[in-house]
Amino acid sequence: MTQAIGVFDSGVGGLTVVRELRQRFPHEEIHYLGDTARVPYGTKSPRTVERYALTCQEFLLEKRVKLVMVACNTASANALPALQERAEVPVIGAVHPGALAALEATRSGHIAVLGTLGTVRSGAYEAAICERDPKASVVTRACPLFVPLAEEGWGETDIAKLTARRYLSELFQADGHVDTIVLGCTHYPLLRDVVAEVCEELCSAPVRIVDSAAAMVSQASLHLGAEETPLKRPAGALRCSVTDASRMEELAPRFLGETLDSLELVDL
Ligand code: DGL
Repeated sequence: MTQAIGVFDSGVGGLTVVRELRQRFPHEEIHYLGDTARVPYGTKSPRTVERYALTCQEFLLEKRVKLVMVACNTASANALPALQERAEVPVIGAVHPGALAALEATRSGHIAVLGTLGTVRSGAYEAAICERDPKASVVTRACPLFVPLAEEGWGETDIAKLTARRYLSELFQADGHVDTIVLGCTHYPLLRDVVAEVCEELCSAPVRIVDSAAAMVSQASLHLGAEETPLKRPAGALRCSVTDASRMEELAPRFLGETLDSLELVDL
């Protein structure tokens, strides 16, 4: 078994999880797989998402990774039980860590989850939150336009703000007591500041924003041990595989915060 952590996503967005992992565990070796040939998962049926996610995981398991992180919220929401059933190593999804972090953050017990259509339709976040706290109230909102905005590098522009205002005002109309918002999609951390600004505009009380990428890495730390200080050992290698190489090198730094050293094209 190699020491690598396997991380997969429908495309480039899961690099937000890798970024978080590399900040907190800089010496860990990571093998990232972006299923860029079949992205997006967010608009596909649960059955298709599960089928795609299983092939991604199989690829990483063949590389003998020690841990699988399902960075894609849509895949986590629709395929986690099937993925866990087929792996002998721990498989961490985004939904349960995000739900837990939201419950830790909320004071009112009113939580909103933003995600893809596939994540919202699955009901996975509501289930994960209410399983832990049956009294919690959860509203969800699909924000499909956030994905292209993040990829275009427009996550901090007026267009992003206008879009966020539209999505969030509907959400606060549905539940005016929401005090915690979960960014339940790989791409949404790139719109975090805009979401925070719009919340300030729309709500008199402060709203906390929970990032499922950060929450996942906190859960991974249970398997990885104590966080590391960057100085002691050289940085761990990041190997990146994709099923289609188009735009990956251009987009990756936006999500990862660094350029990719290598990119391998693979066929699943
Ligand atoms: N990675 C997906 C997620 O986190 C977003 C992009 C897609 O729709 O595939 O849900």
